[in-house]
Amino acid sequence: MKRKKIVAGNWKMNMTLDDSIELSNALININKSNVDVMIAPSFTNLYPLKKHFDTHQIDVIAQNVNQNSKGAFTGEVSVEMLKSIGVNCVIIGHSERRSLFGETDQILFEKVNYATSNDMNVIFCFGEELQQRQNGNYFDIIQQQLEIGVLSLPSELIKKVTLAYEPVWAIGTGVTANPDQIQEIHQFIRNLIHQRFDETISNSIRILYGGSVKSTNAVEIFNLADVDGGLIGGASLKFADFQSIVEAADV
Ligand code: 13P
Repeated sequence: MKRKKIVAGNWKMNMTLDDSIELSNALININKSNVDVMIAPSFTNLYPLKKHFDTHQIDVIAQNVNQNSKGAFTGEVSVEMLKSIGVNCVIIGHSERRSLFGETDQILFEKVNYATSNDMNVIFCFGEELQQRQNGNYFDIIQQQLEIGVLSLPSELIKKVTLAYEPVWAIGTGVTANPDQIQEIHQFIRNLIHQRFDETISNSIRILYGGSVKSTNAVEIFNLADVDGGLIGGASLKFADFQSIVEAADV
């Protein structure tokens, strides 16, 4: 089955408003006929960029969201707030949220469940650490992250989820997982989805790879049978690099 690819730039905690507008002015000109392009700026830049890209087929998405609808949660942002500015998709479960901000599998499930139940699309991230890869128990780790995070959702909600496999040892390190390692995991994930849901869902769910995707390796990664695009960190901050990565997915 042919799935439309996604290239999503996770800007993390980079870019002032001026920097964001400057990069966005360039991004508008990227040729992107058959690929979904998304960028995830910081909360402060969501609204201006949402307006900026209104008619330019670049989706502006959030990097995080709280699992409650409102209340005394100082510093947090709700699904309702995101939707009120037209943001319809959020990244949940990034390894930096897990390791630096203590977000557990259970909290992440609550976030995914609340967001998808309230008509928000989710890019759900997961992936093993270096030690877990070296120990050889990475399949178990990934299965557990998925089982708790998304596999208990009802089928109408899993349709709102895109998966993003991001091995922690490949994030920001310049070390990319090799094509065999990536395809092995993506196929494993698609099989898990098949077992839990059905063939239609497993054939249509999009599974992204993230971790040191660059202009020089994007074509090879995006050509893998079960890879449906990428979640891009560092390279999404540089126009020329991001442009080549989008072009690699635009097939
Ligand atoms: P890098 O592309 O910088 O390795 O980051 C990947 C990532 O964390 C995307 O969410």
